[in-house]
Amino acid sequence: MSNTPYPHIFRPLTIGGLTLPNRIIMGSMHTGFEDRRRDVDKLSALLAERARGGAGLIITGGVAPSRTGQLSPLGSTMTNRLHVAHHRQVTKAVHEAGGRVAMQILHAGRYGVIPWKVAPGSQSSPIHPFKHLRMNEPIIRHIIAGFGRAAKLAHDAGYDAVEIMGGEGYLINQFLCPRTNDRTDRWGGNTENRQRFLIEVIRAIRRRVPATFPVILRQSVADLVEGGQTWEEVALMARRAEEEGVDALNTDIGWHESRVPTIATSVPRGAFVQFTEQLRDEVSIPLIAANRINTPELAEEILSRGRVEPWPWPAPSWPIRTLCSRPSKAGRRKLIPALAATRPA
Ligand SMILES: Cc1cc2nc3c(=O)[nH]c(=O)nc-3n(C[C@H](O)[C@H](O)[C@H](O)COP(=O)(O)O)c2cc1C
Repeated sequence: MSNTPYPHIFRPLTIGGLTLPNRIIMGSMHTGFEDRRRDVDKLSALLAERARGGAGLIITGGVAPSRTGQLSPLGSTMTNRLHVAHHRQVTKAVHEAGGRVAMQILHAGRYGVIPWKVAPGSQSSPIHPFKHLRMNEPIIRHIIAGFGRAAKLAHDAGYDAVEIMGGEGYLINQFLCPRTNDRTDRWGGNTENRQRFLIEVIRAIRRRVPATFPVILRQSVADLVEGGQTWEEVALMARRAEEEGVDALNTDIGWHESRVPTIATSVPRGAFVQFTEQLRDEVSIPLIAANRINTPELAEEILSRGRVEPWPWPAPSWPIRTLCSRPSKAGRRKLIPALAATRPA
């Protein structure tokens, strides 16, 4: 796109075997349409519209790899061939609109609003009802295999990539942090043990999908809770993820139970990008930055900093509107500052 005032945004980006035409990613945002079969037309229409708008990649809201990982009693799961048929409608709609779509695999752990939830540690979630069952070895193994199966089914359903949800205080994050992981077996205690679950999840997925199929990890780079990961642990996890075949890191900030605002309008624009940029010293795979990157100018500035060029640089993750279709100056005047996921910026 030669006449664009946003040359960095419109540079292609390769993630594993997938080349995106630009660096605009519609980040994962659960809409509620993921959950019921009857809403699949609405979800397909919503995501296809983003594809027509020109988003380089769309990531679905989180889909659970097992019933124990559901966000709510009717929350979406990807566990069998019936689910594949359902999801094919979504991928078909996005592809027909010229887009690419990744499915996010999210196990809620103690954050599920379901009575049958499981988690690694003994403390209940302070912000959710129901007590969870503490995971034993067979349950841990079962859920790791479930991540692999969900990725395989997502591939069969026509998704262009999968994203593993490892942040915001959900199950994987619960394993990673002493705050929620008080285990004394090989899944808890020192850093290596706490990171074992995520490493095993990545391996289970890599075993079940083709080598060129992109696997993105949404990794927490600042937990913003007491008992969260240290920066050294975050950096080590990123390096290990790259070694295990993760193709991009989509960085994530804060837990749902954190007292630090991360997405509200009171948060300064781009407030957390420095965490993502710091990771550039650790890995060479693409880094995706999120949180309060609501204008193309800010995204362009972040992308253009070029501190570690020629490495890939963080890609913005804000919901796009008319940016792609009207990148000219006249079009820019018509551009409404993109919405933060929650409310107008
Ligand atoms: C209603 C809502 C649902 C969300 N659902 C998910 C989700 O399923 N998975 C995920 O990784 N992030 C989810 N997020 C977080 C967003 O992807 C994003 O990281 C966050 O809103 C910060 O970016 P922003 O400042 O551009 O809104 C959700 C956010 C909102 C507001």
